[in-house]
Amino acid sequence: MNAFPQYKANILYKVVTPKSEAELDAYYHFRWENLRQPWNYPLGSEKDEYEQVSEHRMITNGRGDIVACGRVHLNTAEEAQIRHIAVHPDQQRKGLGQMMLAALESVARDLGADRAVTNSREISMDFFSACGFEVEREAASELGMLKRQQMVKKLTANNTLILHPIWCDELQKTWSETIPITEHMGIKLHQYSGRTLETRASLNKNINIHGTMFAGSIFSLATLTGWGMLYLQLKEKTLSGDIVLGDGDIHYHKPITMKPRAICNIETLSGKFKTLETGTKSRFELSVEILDDDIPVAEFKGVYWVLPSKDEA
Ligand SMILES: CC(C)(COP(=O)(O)OP(=O)(O)OC[C@H]1O[C@@H](n2cnc3c(N)ncnc32)[C@H](O)[C@@H]1OP(=O)(O)O)[C@@H](O)C(=O)NCCC(=O)NCCS
Repeated sequence: MNAFPQYKANILYKVVTPKSEAELDAYYHFRWENLRQPWNYPLGSEKDEYEQVSEHRMITNGRGDIVACGRVHLNTAEEAQIRHIAVHPDQQRKGLGQMMLAALESVARDLGADRAVTNSREISMDFFSACGFEVEREAASELGMLKRQQMVKKLTANNTLILHPIWCDELQKTWSETIPITEHMGIKLHQYSGRTLETRASLNKNINIHGTMFAGSIFSLATLTGWGMLYLQLKEKTLSGDIVLGDGDIHYHKPITMKPRAICNIETLSGKFKTLETGTKSRFELSVEILDDDIPVAEFKGVYWVLPSKDEA
């Protein structure tokens, strides 16, 4: 196993479902602190009558502290209501709001919804607009609450790729043409927000004799996700180059029995893109979190090299 001490400084964000009483208490407290306390609402005001029928999610950092929260429930079989999204004030504008919203939209899709609605305050409208929501009408105001707009987003399969669908299509094509195993493993790019890349694989195509996902497939899913993140970051910076894996280290904690997912967050990526501009190869490190649905099951740390394209070198 290789050690990458520099990763200790990186913060690994995870979307988590609060389950135990202690986790739920911490989750509601975070909601109160960020969405109710600033307006002097008492403890308890953060909860409403939909908590039992809702799906709750929070994002934790590498130390396990909650840095974001959010909730979704179905209004009808087709319509999901997203509420109570908040990101800790010290952690805003890092893509965590988008990460939370993407997780809630994914839950909504899995529940069968084809549209998501949210009643947004004036100050969060830019955030929801940036994430593809459009104002539909003024929302019915709750007693004593600030004026809100009802904003709506269609949850079609392809708007999971929030940013740069053309690059994402290109990446998927590159994988199937140059790394055919991705097709056999059913690896699909699921979502790209500019800061987070999520891929998914088919469990059926990667199943072992124990009925769980083959560890080699998990490793491939992780390395490809890191590769894809670098591919998209090069696009973002209008750079090009050949990406090769230099070293990889994976820790498996639990088997995968449901929904294989791999997530790479830009916060874990380190390396110098500037070097590439001068035609010199560059070294990058990143982490990929592997999840079984929402349960973290493995963690991959990889070293990649980007070699300047031959025609540019
Ligand atoms: C709204 C909120 C959840 C956004 O979370 P966040 O992690 O800061 O948002 P992200 O970093 O994912 O932002 C994604 C994009 O949304 C837009 N955006 C987010 N906050 C914005 C702001 N204050 N002003 C303008 N645009 C904003 C930007 O386009 C941003 O992309 P960029 O940073 O590359 O420009 C967060 O600011 C928050 O918790 N606010 C207080 C609570 C709240 O109002 N919740 C909404 C309940 S109705």
